[in-house]
Order: sequence, then structure tokens, then C-alpha cells
Amino acid sequence: MHHPHLLKQAAILLFCATILQTAVAQDPAAKTPDGPFRNGMVVCATPNASKVGLDILKKGGNAVDAAVAVQFALAVTHPEAGNIGGGGFMVYRSAKGNTNTLDFREKGPAAASANMFLDSAGNVVKDMSLATHQASGVPGSVDGMVEAHRKYGKLKWADLVQPAIDLARKGFAISRRLAGSLNWGGPQFRKLNPGKTYFLKDVAWKEGDLLVQEDLAKTLELIRDKGRDGFYAGKVADEIAAEMRAGNGLISKADLQNYHSVWRNAITGKYKDYKIITMPPPSSGGIALLQLLHSVEKYPLHRWGHNQDSTVQLIVEAERRVYADRSKYLGDPDFYKVPVDSLLNPTYLDNRMKTFNWNAATPSSSIQPGAFVGYESDQTTHYSIVDKEGNSVSITTTLNGSFGSKILVGGAGFLLNNEMDDFSSKPGVPNMFGLIGGKANSIQAGKRMLSSMTPTIIEKGGKLFMVVGTPGGSTIITSVFQTILNVIEFDEDMQQAVTSKRFHHQWLPDQVNIEKDALDPAAISKLEQKGYKIISGGASGRVDAILVTKDGYYGGADPRGDDTGLGW
Ligand code: DON
Repeated sequence: MHHPHLLKQAAILLFCATILQTAVAQDPAAKTPDGPFRNGMVVCATPNASKVGLDILKKGGNAVDAAVAVQFALAVTHPEAGNIGGGGFMVYRSAKGNTNTLDFREKGPAAASANMFLDSAGNVVKDMSLATHQASGVPGSVDGMVEAHRKYGKLKWADLVQPAIDLARKGFAISRRLAGSLNWGGPQFRKLNPGKTYFLKDVAWKEGDLLVQEDLAKTLELIRDKGRDGFYAGKVADEIAAEMRAGNGLISKADLQNYHSVWRNAITGKYKDYKIITMPPPSSGGIALLQLLHSVEKYPLHRWGHNQDSTVQLIVEAERRVYADRSKYLGDPDFYKVPVDSLLNPTYLDNRMKTFNWNAATPSSSIQPGAFVGYESDQTTHYSIVDKEGNSVSITTTLNGSFGSKILVGGAGFLLNNEMDDFSSKPGVPNMFGLIGGKANSIQAGKRMLSSMTPTIIEKGGKLFMVVGTPGGSTIITSVFQTILNVIEFDEDMQQAVTSKRFHHQWLPDQVNIEKDALDPAAISKLEQKGYKIISGGASGRVDAILVTKDGYYGGADPRGDDTGLGW
């Protein structure tokens, strides 16, 4: 298949990889967890938010209570991705082994339509789905937290929101990494928010500066006092609607009023002795992860070793095929009948791998979606929590791009997402992650845009084994996949499995992106001789995970960011 967008996609991936590079300076306060901990553990993107979560666990809160507190604390301390103006997914497993998932993904506003990002000639308008008021889907995070708390929470709601209010009002000392991000975003904040001064300073931000967010503190107080109505009705809803009117955005007060998160059954699958509990559509991540695990299961990965050429080749070939399916069959299940059973059918997956040839790379142009009847990873954030009883929560939440659309709701002090870019603006035209899609993921009013977020929980022998997830756009799925293999196949401990260098292939563009030094030169040249195009670039993902052993909980906090694991 001839693909006119290959070059453009390569450029976009490179661009993402460049952004990824900005995330390297880690906060000295960030903490690689020791462990084992017996009473609970939180691993998330900032030291302050981890501490908030740990305090809630120590006060007798369960994993969901801690998650709610962490979500709001990240909205304050990790403004690039932590949010109240975005959305996400939660995978939950109770200590007894009951599972559930909550979809609080953003939705297309009622006024959204299939061609909204196309010009009169039918071409995608550059950046329209990324840095405009129209780039925002209807936010889901606040409703998600309210729902999660209503169903599983133990402590009082107000006590879970309060720590974030304190952090916003009193301010906190920013890390070197956050200073870098704020300086990077400055020109865009200025351009997109005329007359507003949020996140701006006369001189460059530097490590240790105090970031105070009084408007955000007031918004969080409304959420503390009124729950859902503190955001989807009243003052904040008025402010969102006014912001939208002023900037030609689409989100109306009715859209906000009508937003509801959805409980969905987890999708589950097996890998050897392990049970994988993960997110169903509108995430593509869960299905893709299960497809990938099945595709490699019968090969001797353990014998080949971590990031050796055979290991990389097999994984890349599985990824190529799985991402081809993603482009055609994955979308919001409320709007498009996703063929889940066909995609996960073992015979289908085995047949798919039959065209894999050890002697040469399978060109992506020869792989099509199966036929059935019928980079910086600051832009999204993941947290993993286990409490004393063994209840566990795996949440990935996002604004999509770093600081989302970079548009702040005037008076309310928070950023809006640019999640509309996760829809397919036009069949075959790549989005910012180089992903393509078609009808399954076309823009429609009230529809949720497809995601790659893959919050996952794993059981072994009926017991909790691992809680894992990461940001990273299209690389989320492959990062979660590799982290799991690092533990199960390559005997790495939790921290090592998170730290280990990663690589990625997504069918199109037809290239293997590797983190710097992820593969040794001999492996690279073997793969290149077989026709693989290897591109070395910046950091990929920020995996935060917890492993449960007979001794207790061990964390893996990604050194690619300020990620911190705390336990007790
Ligand atoms: O839902 C998704 O798949 C994307 N909006 C995630 C974006 C992301 O991870 C950004 N980080 N690099």
C-alpha cells in the first residue's frame, strides 16, 4: 500500500520524541521507593501528590479514596497532565478480586461533527484539533472522581479534595522539570490566553519557585462543597461556557450537564499463569495489550533475553499487526460495534503471526487490518495505588498534549484538554502521535475519542500481582507491554522493569523508535540487516507500577520524570 503520509508521520513522531526530551530533569525530591511496604503504597508523577495519597491511606482511606486525592493533587502539582479539565480511565480490583472499570473519558460536544477540523478543500487544518477552543472534549475527570468515590469511597469527599486546595492556595516549590515545562509553554500560554497571567512570570521559572494557583483553589473549593455540581453547573460551568463563546469553542452548559462517566466491565485475558485485567474500549490499550501478549506468549522470550535482537524483532512484528487492527476497529463502543471477540480470538492472532518471517522485516505496507465478518510523557499521567486490605486502583488520566490545549478557563484557573485530536480528523491522516483511524473513530457528537491509555491490574494464582500504567500517547500500550514482560519474562524487579529502556513500533510509520541506548549496537545492526528502520530518540513513557510479593508491596517510579513511590 502506498502511504502518502509516511514522511509526515515520521516528522510527527520525531517531533513528539523531541518534546519527550524536555522531561529529563528529575525533581531531587522524587523518590524511588524502597519497599517492601505492607500497609499501602502510592506511585505517581509528583512527590507532593504521592504524599497526599499516602496520608489518605494512613488516615484509613482505601485505594479509591487515595486515588481521588491524588487526582486532584496532580491537577495542582502536575499541570501538564494532572487535571480537572481532562479525562481518564480507572481499573479497580477489590481485595476480594472483584473488578470494575470507570470510563471518564472526554466526549465530543453536541456541536462536534465529522469534518470539523477540515478546510473547504477537505484537508485537515493544522493544529486546529490541538491548540484551539475546539480542540477540547467535554471534561470527565471531576465526574469520574465523584462516581468512583460514590461507589467505593470510605472517607469524606471534602477531606479528599482539601489537600489539593491547600497545595493550590499555599503554593508549592516547583521542580526543575516543571520549571522547564512552564518556560517551554510560556509563549503559547501568552498567545492563547490574551489578558490572562496564569503560569506566566516576567522572568523565567526556576527550580524552587513557588507556584500559587488561587483561582484553581476556588474552583476546587466548589468541587469540595458541591461535588459534581461544583464543576458541571454554577460558576465554573458558566466560566467554561463563557470561555468557549469567547474563543469559538463548542462546549455548552448542556454538554457539561449531560456529561456522565460510565462503569464498564473490565476486559480480561491470560498470559501464562497470569490474569490480565484491563481497560475496554473506548481505550484501545486493553485489547491491544491482550493481543500483544497472546502474540508473543509461545516464544522463548526468557531465553532470548531483554532487548536482544530476536526479542525486539518478535515484539515489533506483533506490534505492527496489532496497531494495524487498532487503526480500523477501535473506537467508542457506544457508537461503533468494536469486534472485541474477533480481535482477541486466539486462532485469529496465531494466524496473524504466521506471516512473520525471521529473515526479513514484514513491510507495514503488506499488513492490513485483519478482516472479520461482521513522546516527553508529561502530557498524560498514571498512578498506581494499593491499600492495606489489598484493594488496588490503576488510573491513567490526561489533557492529551502537554498542558492540553494550553487554554485556561478564565477565572477558574484550570487548563482544558485537546483530546479532540485523538479522534480521526480524516481517514488515513495521522494525529499528533502518528496514529491513523477511520469510521470507528470519526468525530461525532457525544462520542468518546479513542485512547491508548492502558491502566492494568494483573493477578497470579487469584491474588493481586501487579498494578501498572503509563502516559506516552501511542507508546503507552507498548510501554505497559514491555514492563509486564520485564517482570514476568526477564526477572526484573519492579523498579528495574520501569527503568529499563524501551522501544516501540506502531505499524505506521514503519519504523522502530528506541530510547537512547535501548539496544546494543550488535542488535541494531542485525535488525537493520533484516530491513528494520531503527530511530533512536528521547524518553518514552513514565511508568508507575506496584508489584505485590509475599513480603509486601514494591514500587517502580519512573526516573524519566519526577515520579515518586511512597509506602508504609
Ligand atoms: O488517550 C490517549 O491515548 C492520549 N490522549 C494520551 C496522551 C498522552 O499519553 C500524552 N503523553 N505523551
